[in-house]
Amino acid sequence: MTPLFLRKAAGLLPPPFRRAASGAMLDLMSLPVRLADPERRGDPWQSVHNVGGGDFARAGRETLALLIEHAGLDRDSRVLDIGCGTGRMAMPLAAWLGDGAGYVGFDVSKSAISTCRRTLGARRPDFCFVHADVRNREYRSGGSIAETAFEFPVQDASVDVAFATSVFSHMTLDSISHYLAETRRVLKPGGRFMFTAYALTPERIAAIQQGQGHLDFKPWRDGAMVIDPKSPERAIAHPLASLVAAIRQGGLDLPADVLFGGWLPPTRYGGGQDLFTVRRPAV
Ligand SMILES: C[S@@+](CC[C@H](N)C(=O)[O-])C[C@H]1O[C@@H](n2cnc3c(N)ncnc32)[C@H](O)[C@@H]1O
Repeated sequence: MTPLFLRKAAGLLPPPFRRAASGAMLDLMSLPVRLADPERRGDPWQSVHNVGGGDFARAGRETLALLIEHAGLDRDSRVLDIGCGTGRMAMPLAAWLGDGAGYVGFDVSKSAISTCRRTLGARRPDFCFVHADVRNREYRSGGSIAETAFEFPVQDASVDVAFATSVFSHMTLDSISHYLAETRRVLKPGGRFMFTAYALTPERIAAIQQGQGHLDFKPWRDGAMVIDPKSPERAIAHPLASLVAAIRQGGLDLPADVLFGGWLPPTRYGGGQDLFTVRRPAV
C-alpha cells in the first residue's frame, strides 16, 4: 500500500503524471515479488501504462474464469476486449483460446497497445490490437474522437463475447450508453457482454457516507459519485438504476443479478468492482 501522504501528493498532479507517479510506486513495490516469483517477472510496468496494482497474471486468470462461467466463453469464441490495457486478459486468452477463435482488443493508450503487440504479437499473430484515438480525460485527453462518437473496430454481429474490465469505471454515463449501443451492434444475437463498474443504490450511498468501503467517493452530478471532482474520470460510480436503464436503452438484456464487488461490502464475488453480464437478445 502506497503511503497516504504520497498518494495525496500524487493526487495534485495532472492525470498522466499522477498515473505515471503512482505506476512508478507500484513498480517499486513490486520488485521483491518480481524477484521472488518467476511468473511475475514478465508483468508489464505500471509506470508505462498504469492499470492498477495487484497480481496481474492472477487477475487475468480470475477474469477468464468469470467469462467462462458467466458469459459462456468457449475456446472457439470470437471476443472483443474493450479497453484492453496492457493485456491482462489477452495474456490468459492467448493460452486458452483455440486457433479457430478470434480476439480484438482496443484501447485509447498507444503505450498499452504497443505493450500488447510486443508481448503477444509473436505468440498469437491472429490477435489484433487496435489503438483507438478516443478522448478520455483520465487516459487520453488529446484524443481526436469523442467517446460518444467512436465506432468499435469490428463488424456488425461478429462477436460472441465482449468484455470491458475496469473501463466503464472511468467513463461518464453518456459515453457508457454509446459503448453499450456499439457493443450491441457488434455482438451476435445471443452474444454476451461482461463489464465492471461501480454501482450505487440508496443503501450503498448511505454506506459510503458513513465511511464504509475502500474508495472515497463524493457526490458529483446526476446521482453519480467521483473520487476527484477535478478529474471525474479517475473513478466514477453511477446509480445502478441509470446503468440498468442504459443497458435496456442500448438494446441489451440483463438476465442475471449484478454481482457486487469488494470495493463496498457486502460482496457477491471475488472481484473488486461490480460485475454485470448482459446479453444481446437472440431475436
Ligand atoms: C484500469 S485500466 C484497465 C485495463 C484492462 N481492461 C485491464 O483490466 O487490465 C482502464 C483502461 O481503459 C482504457 N480506456 C479508457 N477510456 C477508454 C475508452 N473510452 N475506450 C477504450 N479504452 C479506454 C485505458 O487506457 C486503460 O487501459
